[in-house]
Amino acid sequence: MSRLVVVSNRVAPIDDKKSASGGLAVAMHAALKAQGGIWFGWSGEVVAAPDPEPKHFDSKNITFATLDLSQRDYEEYYNGFANSTLWPLFHYRLDLTEFSRRTYAGYLRVNALFAGKLSAMLKPDDKVWVHDYHLLPLGEQLRQMGHRQRLGFFLHTPFPVPEILLALPNHENLVRSLCAYDVVGFQTKRDVDAFVSYLIQEVGGEVVGEKRVRAFGRTLTVGHFPISVETADIERDAQSALTSRQTERLSESLGDRDLIIGVDRLDYSKGLYQRFQAFEALMETYPDNRGRVTFMQIAPPTRTDVPEYNVIRRELETSAGHINGKFAEFDWVPIRYLNKSFARKTLLGFYRMARVGFVTPLRDGMNLVAKEYVAAQDPEDPGVLVLSRFAGAAIEMGDALIVNPYDVEGVAEALQRALSMPLEERRHRHAALMDVLRSNDIVTWRNRFDEALENAIPDA
Ligand code: UDP
Ligand code: G6P
Repeated sequence: MSRLVVVSNRVAPIDDKKSASGGLAVAMHAALKAQGGIWFGWSGEVVAAPDPEPKHFDSKNITFATLDLSQRDYEEYYNGFANSTLWPLFHYRLDLTEFSRRTYAGYLRVNALFAGKLSAMLKPDDKVWVHDYHLLPLGEQLRQMGHRQRLGFFLHTPFPVPEILLALPNHENLVRSLCAYDVVGFQTKRDVDAFVSYLIQEVGGEVVGEKRVRAFGRTLTVGHFPISVETADIERDAQSALTSRQTERLSESLGDRDLIIGVDRLDYSKGLYQRFQAFEALMETYPDNRGRVTFMQIAPPTRTDVPEYNVIRRELETSAGHINGKFAEFDWVPIRYLNKSFARKTLLGFYRMARVGFVTPLRDGMNLVAKEYVAAQDPEDPGVLVLSRFAGAAIEMGDALIVNPYDVEGVAEALQRALSMPLEERRHRHAALMDVLRSNDIVTWRNRFDEALENAIPDA
């Protein structure tokens, strides 16, 4: 069997107990654990004089190989083109999308650096699986170095419709580099359609067979592979997490109040501002909930050197302060807003205790928290997931209460419905969602992509 080499900007912390707040690292760690392989990427460190050679660590059957970044690379590649251009653009935030030739050059430079170091580690029959928007050009750069291995790419974020993508001056170069892979995978069919539409409308590409497209002189496989979670492990761990010290403390602090939980990186794509407004509308429109419901939003800061992330942080502080000031009583605070991360095991106990999982991104590739929340419920007395239609997860999870996150009053109504939903309906919806999560867990996801890569007919 050929060796699997995974490449991503963010690599899961090697220490299992540390939290990796980000769907990619969480999912890839789960996916690699069973099969083993190499995981190559950024160490997360920014240093004055980066060691040119990757550091290697073995942890069980995974070999981690990581590079540090220089301050300039961090600014131009990570804060710059990846997180101030591609991230907002791919999440339909043209208003936040910045473009500069300098950061684009930095992005290409770091991709070339990664490609060069990876090139030295590759064996002829390796399978290389590259992840996410940070590394779109990597495959093409490996090809230019003469690599003929099977190369797959998976995008964890949405892929925007052509009208949005065209705002990027270099759209054609980036899409051309995607066509250097043998398999390009997306989260949903919506994303595949957007990619194929671009190829057809903008560069004369064509569909040449089932899941096969031809563009820029290459033929490749495209498909959707909705990412998922370790369903069975979560079911088991969530039950035992209920007795953890932290979950017990949360339970004591709540008394008999219902808990609504949100868990998201502090990112403008997650719709946190609108979510707070919807909670405020719940308190206004359904005042019986005052004193009886607590909303706990866990929001660890992320990408703090990108200015937009500080703007959203300030907005949320103001909003939480305003709502708490308006409704709090001497013995009850409506919103518990926590700017810190928690280990996933701890989160599982919190999810299980929560009557409502509140997941309302304005745009999200998939959203693993939605899936984790459902998998962590007690099937005999499950909570209800309130889920944005703009999360990729909504396509598989139609048995959640699907909401439009911009419709603040509609979301408040859905919260009220979730809080008062009869047990039978809750069980019914939960069982239907669990069928989805059992038939597509993280191992199925990895195997489906792996199979597509095995079966892809390599092009010249
Ligand atoms: N997460 C965590 N600790 C936290 C917050 C989040 O471990 O304090 C994990 C969460 O359990 C999930 C992932 O980070 O597995 C977030 O993935 P998701 O797809 O929901 O969003 P992303 O951050 O990738 O946009
Ligand atoms: C999303 C992206 C990942 C990224 C994660 C955390 O899930 O798709 O590529 O790793 O957010 O963001 P960070 O910038 O901390 O890696």
